[in-house]
Amino acid sequence: MEKMMKAIVFKRYGSPEVLQIKEIAKPVPRNNEILVKVNATTVTIGDTIMRSLNLPVAGWQKIMARLYLGWSRPKRPILGMELAGTVESVGRKVTRFKVGDAVFASTFAADFGGYVEYKCLPEKGVLALKPHNLSFEEAAAAPGAGMTALTCLKKGNIQPGQKVLIYGASGAVGTNAVQLASRHFGAEVIGVCSTANLALVQSLGTSRVIDYTRQDITQCSETCDVVFDAVGKLDPKQGKQLLKPGGVFINVHTDSDGGNKLANLLIIKDIIEAGQLKPVIDRVYPFEQIVEAHRYVEQGHKKGNVAITIS
Ligand SMILES: NC(=O)c1ccc[n+]([C@@H]2O[C@H](COP(=O)([O-])OP(=O)(O)OC[C@H]3O[C@@H](n4cnc5c(N)ncnc54)[C@H](OP(=O)(O)O)[C@@H]3O)[C@@H](O)[C@H]2O)c1
Repeated sequence: MEKMMKAIVFKRYGSPEVLQIKEIAKPVPRNNEILVKVNATTVTIGDTIMRSLNLPVAGWQKIMARLYLGWSRPKRPILGMELAGTVESVGRKVTRFKVGDAVFASTFAADFGGYVEYKCLPEKGVLALKPHNLSFEEAAAAPGAGMTALTCLKKGNIQPGQKVLIYGASGAVGTNAVQLASRHFGAEVIGVCSTANLALVQSLGTSRVIDYTRQDITQCSETCDVVFDAVGKLDPKQGKQLLKPGGVFINVHTDSDGGNKLANLLIIKDIIEAGQLKPVIDRVYPFEQIVEAHRYVEQGHKKGNVAITIS
């Protein structure tokens, strides 16, 4: 008889209430796949956009996004772009993993689907052994924002001692970017965030924080080698005013393509295990409170990441 598992499914676009816990068939790994018992996943701003179809783009980009996601109803009915868990079984041809391994993964190229008790992933997908110094919740939050921040910052060709400004420093991408820029690339980092997040951002390795609710950052007297808008809300003209001659302006929306790769996940794992990066967890919700988690994340003010535990 077919075995069943719990999954959070959405059949139509809409408010968080469209997310419902259902019993669906437990997947069986193919020869080249592993079956992961999922311990934790996340809710990102991207999950809330795909759920609501409240797309932050217009024109042909909106048309392309709707074709990809499903024009009138979701093509991929289970959200969740990253996860961490334990290998439950492996296909006949699998060599990279064994039963019992703790792993973390991006499910971006695997039709999403992290909001489940069990997920099959190709062994050559964007997955690796879980960093030994992270909890499952922290590891689940590491792939997406970590690889995005790394890909964007690499475009700045940052040299030790250079000055880097991270705008939107308190979000998932921002908290990764601050730590990577300061602790991995050795830059002097200025973080920009709101009053409530000053202490958090300072603790991640900045030399200075600017409260954008109290100070017009274009009036900042310093100029930088790199300005990274990690939240996509800074007018590029304003961002470029803060650059030294020859400096680089980076935007999370236009500069993060191509980052979702196994090679990048392995770099992130090494950086985490070297103690230079730790995902910031704002809140952890149980699986049953997915609606509350989506309501919180879509307000756009989370600090770092929101994780979901699946027991
Ligand atoms: N997370 C990922 O894996 C990922 C991957 C690829 C692309 N992206 C894209 O990257 C962007 C950022 O994603 P995210 O996950 O980092 O978002 P997020 O965590 O939801 O961002 C929330 C944070 O942004 C800050 N913020 C909001 N408005 C701001 C403003 N006007 N100025 C400065 N800070 C502001 C908020 O703090 P305050 O409101 O207190 O200022 C809050 O801490 C999104 O467009 C997302 O689609 C994300």
